[in-house]
Amino acid sequence: MSASEQLEILEEPPFILENGVKYINPTEVKMSQFILPCHANHCGELSVGQLLKWMDTTACLSAERHAHCPCVTASMDDIDFDFEQRLSVGHVVNIKAKVNRAFNTSLEVGISITSEDPCSGRQWKVCNAFATFVAKGQGSGKVQLKAVIPRTSQEKIEYSIAAERRRMRLHHLESIKDLVSSSTIQKAEPDFDESQHVVPAEKTRVETVELVLPPHANHQRNSFGGQIMAWMESAATISASRFCKGHPVLKTIDMFHFRGPSQVGDRITLKAIVNNAFKESFEVGVCAEAYHQEGWDQKTHINSAFMTFVVPDKGGKLCTFPRVKPEPGDGKRRYREASARKKIRLDRKYIISCKQTEVPLSVPWDPSNQVYLSYNNVSALKILAAKQNWVLNCMQNKAKLSTLEEDHLLFFKAEMIVSVNVKQVFVLLSDMSRRHEWDTHYQRFKLIQKVDTDDVIYHVVSPSVNKASNFQDFVLLASRRVPCADGDPYLIALRSVSLPAVPPTKDLDRGEVSCAGFTLCQEGVTSTKIAYYIQTTPQVLPYITRDITGLSSDLCKIIEALNKFLEQNKDTVHMCDIG
Ligand code: COA
Ligand code: ADP
Repeated sequence: MSASEQLEILEEPPFILENGVKYINPTEVKMSQFILPCHANHCGELSVGQLLKWMDTTACLSAERHAHCPCVTASMDDIDFDFEQRLSVGHVVNIKAKVNRAFNTSLEVGISITSEDPCSGRQWKVCNAFATFVAKGQGSGKVQLKAVIPRTSQEKIEYSIAAERRRMRLHHLESIKDLVSSSTIQKAEPDFDESQHVVPAEKTRVETVELVLPPHANHQRNSFGGQIMAWMESAATISASRFCKGHPVLKTIDMFHFRGPSQVGDRITLKAIVNNAFKESFEVGVCAEAYHQEGWDQKTHINSAFMTFVVPDKGGKLCTFPRVKPEPGDGKRRYREASARKKIRLDRKYIISCKQTEVPLSVPWDPSNQVYLSYNNVSALKILAAKQNWVLNCMQNKAKLSTLEEDHLLFFKAEMIVSVNVKQVFVLLSDMSRRHEWDTHYQRFKLIQKVDTDDVIYHVVSPSVNKASNFQDFVLLASRRVPCADGDPYLIALRSVSLPAVPPTKDLDRGEVSCAGFTLCQEGVTSTKIAYYIQTTPQVLPYITRDITGLSSDLCKIIEALNKFLEQNKDTVHMCDIG
């Protein structure tokens, strides 16, 4: 049994309401399905297309429970499968979906999939996914959804991070387009040595058609997103089999984005081809277009997806592949773009899918991982801010200093209330170039890169706690966020990154910050609750422990200076400075 097979399925402890009743999320929908031969491929394993259909149906039912009206799939985020886990005929698949957050007309549904072998009782985790649905009311009018009210601590975290996932999702298409069309990628010409074994991409081309029938559609005659995804997966798998001449196993699916609807009577054409092969994996691209009943020539591009396959041998070792020779024109472009997508996928997995404690410090920043680093930065602070069981250590200058010890990590929090409007505090605190005015740790500041309107990278030099040693320096990514809805805090998240333009030097000890930042909550029109959080690293630990144990009053002075800085500068901030 592999390590992943032994994964225990950890259920959240029950949350008991004030009236003593066990709380069940009102949008929670559970589906359990036996894997029958009709759901499986020729190897007796569950087809991923069938799984996508079940996931979409469960998530749609959950979305409609919240929306109280029909909902359509707008997107399904990237999914990573553990290809060592086989879901075979006779196993049971359990799918659980619940609405994490509603925005305006769209809502995010979190989906978790586990599997079990009923004969042995063994259970294991398959994957998690997030889908976005858009509510469709009568006619063409937009449906304004009611807010979700999270109850349990886990629901509160999901609710908070859903806003950041939405931001990443909506940036995703733009950022991928920019990256794959970037000049460095466009210049890289694939070169082939004549002696190498290559497979012409043309040999892997699949063109197939499906007719949308009533069982593929909802009661409004719109085709189900899950059905379209299943057809796309099937076309991609045929293309993959032609390339590897074996049994390909799906490892990763990039985000599905439903650009337009299709209806009963439409013909859906699916085109797939291998875009590029890497040593032990290869990417298949698939495009779905709908030809509408009325006009045979009128087509709508409804979806494109990119899927990565591997081929494990009997011992689980991955087979290696020959190179793909792309077709001229679009083929060559897709070949290069597949390499760019592979880099983006690796960054995403490395930065997002890891637990916060596993993400290495100082991830190298580049434009292709910006969106993920920014997500990691903000979500890490949101998770830290949601932690319970803080221990109050002392009060300094009306500020409460608390610590939290968890899994060999030490977290620190300083909270204070200032008599300044929250928007003014946000503008003044998020201007890192002014932090030296109140924080003695910020001796020298240099803006390295303004990434976008909400993200900057800067270099800061701090004096050492220990007078005998060098000064320290930090390269930090600052991500600021205004609330996505009433009740959300304003937020400024900080984490270390590394940049070739700012290498460590001999004169300065390079320090690291894994997670830090401010949350700002409006307490009244003219008062704000500021909370500063930091996860300690060896370089910042001495600053904190000296203060909370009363050995230093540095922090007390900084808090006093911050209060004065905000008071003195609040009137320089105009409300129009805030997006
Ligand atoms: N991922 C997640 N959400 C997305 C999205 C994406 N790729 N693209 C748009 N949205 C969200 C927007 O954020 C917005 O949410 P909000 O109202 O909560 O702020 C909502 O969708 C509407 O966006 P808008 O820009 O007004 O609409 P649009 O014209 O882009 O339409 C769809 C978005 C999804 C409604 C439209 O593309 C569509 O009908 N797609 C087909 C859906 C379908 O039929 N699916 C079933 C399978 S074919
Ligand atoms: P792009 O060409 O930018 O990748 P498309 O949406 O046109 O975007 O296509 C998505 C993917 O679908 C392509 O990368 C390719 O793998 C596959 N594809 C598109 N058109 C065809 C086609 N005519 N034949 C086979 N596969 C195709």
